[in-house]
Amino acid sequence: MLILPLLFALQTVPPGEEAVAPYVQADANAGARPARGDGLWRAFHGQAGVDRIVDDLVARNQADPRITDIFKGQDMVRLRRTLKEQFCYLLGGGCSYSGRSMKDAHRNMGVQQADMAALVENLQAAMRKEGVSFPAQNRLLAKLAPMKRDVVER
Ligand code: HEM
Repeated sequence: MLILPLLFALQTVPPGEEAVAPYVQADANAGARPARGDGLWRAFHGQAGVDRIVDDLVARNQADPRITDIFKGQDMVRLRRTLKEQFCYLLGGGCSYSGRSMKDAHRNMGVQQADMAALVENLQAAMRKEGVSFPAQNRLLAKLAPMKRDVVER
């Protein structure tokens, strides 16, 4: 296969991140379609709001005894960057998503239903802290909910 070394060569590693196995980048990897218009993006306070929410979410997950072990030894610099892109894309902020698909990103991680519930609770707390309205919170959660089938292993 000639294509794999070619992809490796093309894929640059952003500063502070670890290299990952090559994959094809596409917005479809984000796992859902973006919201129309900029209403939802504004409800999340744009890029600054999403940056705060993702930083807070990742910190909460790392500090959460229910799921902290799953994050140990993983690349949190890359996770913060790609999560910010994913949320921006889904919320109609006009970003491209450069990360892996939800299936590829969570493969063999052993995430269970209860872990997913814990992460959603932490996301709700982060959105609440940012002052995102309840209906806007639920619009993001509705986009993420079906991704459960690609994240949770059974
Ligand atoms: C719908 C729910 C979820 C979404 C939208 C999501 C999103 C993402 C994204 C965008 C990445 C980075 C992809 C990449 O590196 O290319 C990622 C990686 C990761 N996710 Fe999730 N995730 C979800 C659920 C979970 C849950 C429930 C856990 C564990 C409790 C989890 C743990 C992780 C970890 C540890 C990584 C880092 C993987 C690595 O560095 O190889 N995720 N997730």
